[in-house]
Amino acid sequence: MNRAVLVGTGSIARQHVAAVAECTGRVELVAALDLDRARCETFCAQHGIPRAYDDLDTLLAAERPDLVLICTPPASHTRLTVRCLEVGAWVLCEKPLCGSLADLDQIDAAARRSGAVCSSVVQNRFSGAARHVKQLIEAGELGRPLVGHCATTWHRTQAYYDVAWHGRWQEAFGGPTMQLGIHTMDLFLWLWPDWAQVFASAATLDHRMEAEDVSVAVVHHASGALTTVVNSAVSPRQETRLRLDFQHATVEAVYLYRNTTPDWQITPPAQAAPSTTVPGDTVAPRMALPDAPAASHGAQLAELIDAMEQGRRPLASGDEVRRTLEFCSALYKSSSTGQPVRRGAITPDDAYYRSVNGHPLT
Ligand SMILES: NC(=O)c1ccc[n+]([C@@H]2O[C@H](COP(=O)([O-])OP(=O)(O)OC[C@H]3O[C@@H](n4cnc5c(N)ncnc54)[C@H](O)[C@@H]3O)[C@@H](O)[C@H]2O)c1
Repeated sequence: MNRAVLVGTGSIARQHVAAVAECTGRVELVAALDLDRARCETFCAQHGIPRAYDDLDTLLAAERPDLVLICTPPASHTRLTVRCLEVGAWVLCEKPLCGSLADLDQIDAAARRSGAVCSSVVQNRFSGAARHVKQLIEAGELGRPLVGHCATTWHRTQAYYDVAWHGRWQEAFGGPTMQLGIHTMDLFLWLWPDWAQVFASAATLDHRMEAEDVSVAVVHHASGALTTVVNSAVSPRQETRLRLDFQHATVEAVYLYRNTTPDWQITPPAQAAPSTTVPGDTVAPRMALPDAPAASHGAQLAELIDAMEQGRRPLASGDEVRRTLEFCSALYKSSSTGQPVRRGAITPDDAYYRSVNGHPLT
């Protein structure tokens, strides 16, 4: 049985408790930690977690966890992750994993030294439908990618951005680009990994906050495909929409926070009616979607535990995390400079290497 501990017992921590419950018999939560000791004790009592801590080194020494689930605000992620890796614990850290390519290099170096692995929460890659689409793409079933649309059009109130860390450059690393749209961009860039250049604009249109509340981008892919990206916190009718047009089919996913099989449609050109691709479809069996589990923290945790037990890297680690962070760095750099930014152009001498949004991080 793998011993896991939870660091940070705020809003998202409940999803991690549920994820551990989905993996019963393979992992157990033996302790939790929060700087707010009283909150941590209440959380532990509510969820049957045996021990509460308020100091990381004390927890690591006493519990010797195999896995640490990090659920603290973004600015604390790199320091906590590196410390856990140093003692040989694997880490599953909430998004965004860190605020710069420099920090990611620091995390990767700690992982290489210790042999432990850090993975970032990107739960939307882990639905059965998303994985099926990925297989179809890799098998060449859909033909060449041509045009994409990746939109996270959500709504957040001023009260949301009045919370200490939300919407701040240093604490949250940005607005909806780094906090909301990062989920959909990660899914899009997992399915179409070959982004080559981004040209973006960002603005703060309807909130009092440091960071942007909207960003838009045009992406050129090495394949020649073109994608538009929107990340918004000002859209009253909320929706997440991913649309990828290939030569042989349109793939669409429309949902809000987590994708399930019925949210996806695959429409071949000869059969324009989307209903041809419901689970069990017999007209286009290669493109029929499986009746498979929804995206969840639990699905990602199960794959991570498989990786621990099989001695391999989990899906969302290393370059699989770097791709999205480098994309976000390029998006912010382009929006600040008014110039397109090529993949690979952000090197260690660049301000956007030291901070994803170009603002100095403490
Ligand atoms: N994957 C998702 O769908 C999803 C959804 C929401 C939030 N998140 C991410 O989860 C993380 C946490 O968000 P939240 O909404 O739960 O935040 P929150 O503010 O509700 O909770 C954070 C908790 O961490 C504690 N904390 C702060 N610094 C700490 C430290 N250094 N050590 C220990 N505890 C510390 C705070 O006291 C608080 O209890 C963020 O990175 C956020 O982006 C992910």
